[in-house]
Amino acid sequence: MNEMSKPGAEAKSGHNAPGSATLTLDGTGKSVTLPLVPGTIGPAVADIRKVYPELGIFTFDPGYGGTAATESKITYIDGDAGILLHRGYPIEQLAEKCSFLEVAYLLLNGELPNKAQMAEFDTGVTRHTMIHEQLRRFYDGFRRDAHPMAVMTGVVGAMSAFYHDSLDINDPEHRRISAFRLIAKVPTIAAWAYKYSIGQPFMYPRNDLSYAENFLYMMNAVPAEPYNVSPVLARAMDRILILHADHEQNASTSTVRLAGSTGANPFACIAAGIASLWGPAHGGANEAVLKMLAEIGHPKNIPDFIAKVKDKNSNVRLMGFGHRVYKNFDPRAKILQETCHEVLTELGIKDEPLLDLAMELEKIATHDEYFVSRKLYPNVDFYSGIILKAMGIPTSMFTVLFAVARTTGWISQWKEMMEDPSQRIGRPRQVYTGAPLRDVPTAAERG
Ligand code: CMC
Repeated sequence: MNEMSKPGAEAKSGHNAPGSATLTLDGTGKSVTLPLVPGTIGPAVADIRKVYPELGIFTFDPGYGGTAATESKITYIDGDAGILLHRGYPIEQLAEKCSFLEVAYLLLNGELPNKAQMAEFDTGVTRHTMIHEQLRRFYDGFRRDAHPMAVMTGVVGAMSAFYHDSLDINDPEHRRISAFRLIAKVPTIAAWAYKYSIGQPFMYPRNDLSYAENFLYMMNAVPAEPYNVSPVLARAMDRILILHADHEQNASTSTVRLAGSTGANPFACIAAGIASLWGPAHGGANEAVLKMLAEIGHPKNIPDFIAKVKDKNSNVRLMGFGHRVYKNFDPRAKILQETCHEVLTELGIKDEPLLDLAMELEKIATHDEYFVSRKLYPNVDFYSGIILKAMGIPTSMFTVLFAVARTTGWISQWKEMMEDPSQRIGRPRQVYTGAPLRDVPTAAERG
C-alpha cells in the first residue's frame, strides 16, 4: 500500500505555493519526495520522475486522468468552473473580439498580433492555400463514397511526400513554413474531400476572401455561377473555428505530441492527430449528435431514449453531453448556443425539428438526477452539429471541420514541444497482466 501525503498546495487555490509530496512504500521504509511543480494558475503537479528509480514502482493512470504529460503555455482549462483560456485570454472574449486567424496567430506565437503582424500572417496563410497539383490527383485514388475523414488522414499524411523543403524539424524556419502550409492548406484539402464525395469540380481557393469565407466558398461554390458568402454564416463559421482551435492535452493533441516526440515530420504528426480526432468519443461526437437526434426522431421518444442511456447494459450515451475535463457547462457550448440562434434566424429557419428536439433533450438532461449527479453538461459538439446542419454542411463533414480548426492547435502544440529543450520521446509504461514466463510447447504437445 502506498500513501501519498497531501500536497503542500491547495489544488483549487491557484496559489501553487511550491512544496512537495512524499510517497512512502509501506513496509519497506523507502520513500521518495516528489517536488510540486507550480503552474501559473490551477493545481500544482507532483513530479513523479524519481518514483521508479527510487522505489522501483510505476504509477498507474489509465486514460491519463490525473497525469500531466507536459508543461504548456498555450491553453488553460478549469473544468469545474467551466473556464477556457488561450494564452490567458478567455475564450468568450476571443470569440467576440477576434478572427480565427488572429487566434491562430495567438496560439502559435503567444501574443495577439498588431496590425502589421496580422497583415503579414494573413498574407503568409493566403499565399499557401493552394495545394500541389499532383496532390490534387491523389484524390482519384479514393473510393467516391470514402468518409472525408479517411481522405483527410490520407491527403494530409501525403503532404510529407510533397513538401520536402520544410521537413527539417530542427530548423525553426522549416517549422514555421510547415505551420503556415498546414493552417493554409487544410481547408482546401477538406473542401476538396467534400467536393470529391459529391462529384463536383474542385474549387480553387480565393485570396480575396477571409479564411472562413474561403472555406465556405470552396465547399459550396460551383464554377457555373457566382457564389456570395453570407456575412452571418461566415462569422458563424469563423466562430466555430475559433471554438475548436485548441483544447489543451486532449486525445488528438496528445497523439500529435506523442508522434512528434519521435522526431516524425509535422505533416505525419497532424495526420496522426486527424486519425485520433475521428473517434465518436472525441471529434466524431458532433456527427454522432446528429445521428442520435435523427434516431430519436420526435420529442415523445425522448423518455425511452433517456432510459436507454441510463441502462448500463445498453452502451448508449447521450452524445454531445459529458466531458473528461469539464464538470460544468462547456464555455464553448454556451457561445455556440447563441450562434445557433443567430444562424437559424439568418437562414429563416423557424421550426427546425432537430433543434426543438435538441432543446428538449437539453432541458431534460440538465435537470435529470442521472446527468446532474455525474456533472454531465452539454459540450461543444451538442450545438456545433445543429449549426453546421442548418448551414447545409453534410454530417460527414462535421469532424473534418473540427480537424481544420484544430490543426492550428495541433501545430502550435507541436511547435511548442519542438522548442522545449526538455522534450524526450513519449514512452508510457504498463502493468503487465499477461501470462508469466513459460516455455513454448512443441506442435505435438499443443495437440
Ligand atoms: N451519456 C450518458 N452517460 C455518460 C455520458 C454520456 N454522454 N458521459 C459519461 N457518462 C457517465 C458514465 O457512464 C459514467 O457513469 P458511472 O459513473 O455510473 O459509471 C460517468 O458518466 C463518468 O463517465 P466516464 O466515461 O468516466 O467519463 P469520461 O471522462 O471517461 O468520458 C466522454 C468523457 C466525453 C468520453 C464521455 O462523457 C462521452 O462519451 N460523451 C459522449 C461523447 C461526446 O459528446 N464527446 C465529445 C466530447 S467534447 C469534444 C471533444 O473534446 O472532443
